[in-house]
Amino acid sequence: MNQINATSDQMCFELPIFQANLGNSVLDASGFPVDFYFQDIGLKHTSFCQSAICYIDGSKGLLLYRGYPIEELCKHFQFESIMYLLLFGELPTSRTLKSFTKKLIKYRHIPDYCYSLLEHLPESSHPMGILLTLVSALAADSSQSLDDPDEMAIRIVAQMPILVALSQRHARTLKPVHQDSNDDSLGYVPDFLFRLFGQIPTEHTVTAFDQILTLHAEHEQNASTCTLRVSGSTGTNAYAALAAAITALWGPAHGGANEACMQMLEAIKTCDRIPEYIEKAKSKEDPFRLMGFGHRVYRSRDPRADVMKSLAKEVLDSKQDKPLFRLAPSLEKRALEDPYFISHQLYPNVDYYSGIVQRALGIENNAFTTIFALARTTGWMSHWLEMMRDKTPIIRPRQHYIGPRKRSL
Ligand code: ACO
Repeated sequence: MNQINATSDQMCFELPIFQANLGNSVLDASGFPVDFYFQDIGLKHTSFCQSAICYIDGSKGLLLYRGYPIEELCKHFQFESIMYLLLFGELPTSRTLKSFTKKLIKYRHIPDYCYSLLEHLPESSHPMGILLTLVSALAADSSQSLDDPDEMAIRIVAQMPILVALSQRHARTLKPVHQDSNDDSLGYVPDFLFRLFGQIPTEHTVTAFDQILTLHAEHEQNASTCTLRVSGSTGTNAYAALAAAITALWGPAHGGANEACMQMLEAIKTCDRIPEYIEKAKSKEDPFRLMGFGHRVYRSRDPRADVMKSLAKEVLDSKQDKPLFRLAPSLEKRALEDPYFISHQLYPNVDYYSGIVQRALGIENNAFTTIFALARTTGWMSHWLEMMRDKTPIIRPRQHYIGPRKRSL
């Protein structure tokens, strides 16, 4: 452990530095006097937990799940193996994969009241809101909770595809597809697609979704995972913590960016309007931002965006959505050549092409983020399990008070 001196006019402290296995070291502030706070608005420089799940090097465009590069995982493994890796730390053997898959099937059902609840929700509801409602209903039902955290996490990741399929179908005024819960003929992704579209998916569609899920499965302390950890640290039940994470994911600065990006591309419509939108994104008077661009951590290419772009090429080869696909790379090229985007180190993130791919596969714009939520549930539950094992204390930051001094009425 290294020691450093932090000096100011009045104070001198010795603080230990902990080396990370990869990336930035951290200054351990736990021994700091309680009457003195660090200010870090937006938590840009704050490590608030220890984690062994995911590593991102934003300057090199590197993303590792449990040490393995995302590109290799996408190429060589199906989503069930990725889930096992994230949740339990190692890739499964064929035996452990078999027993994990069996459990996913065992827990692949939801209580009947979820279906009745749906009938009371307006058809105009947003799929993310429907998903949130269903997860909240499960949070209220103590019979859904399991004492063993591993089993709880597996139950949640197994139920999520049913909840997402129901949310999307309800928003499209379609009846739920009922699947025999004992039917083990379909794997995790094909079963989800069957429940979503009401027909057995092609191998091509399954492969594309498998990759979409892998790419979105985990991304260390993003806003939704951080929210899950904050709510989980209070000891709330796993479904309630999940509901909190879904809420945080919904916003356009986070998981909602894929929907917002598609809306933006539809608004731009043709390549001749690109310069106008680039100028809007650069203007400090205009709140518009280029959706699907920029990232808190990546200051170079987001490796997920590259895989997603290749996937978009494959998927769109056989589809009609080509005008939009022509527009997206042209806008990307123009932005990447612009001095503003260069100096601000703004590159496409995973959401830039994910909407296009999902649209080509039959997902409506307002349902993209539910697919993201389905994928990220594995990451969220991996962090929840890690917290349970580490016995994380309640997360309770302090603030820099700027309100009125004490005054009398
Ligand atoms: N378009 C135009 N300018 C941008 C963009 C953008 N997409 N993103 C950042 N900037 C500019 C800001 O205006 C700011 O400029 P300034 O320093 O001259 O004032 C600078 O870059 C830094 O921006 P911040 O908002 O401070 O960066 P932060 O790290 O807090 O935000 C975020 C990251 C929220 C992702 C931001 O880049 C953004 O809003 N992007 C668009 C939404 C989006 O695609 N979100 C998906 C993120 S990936 C995910 O969640 C899966």
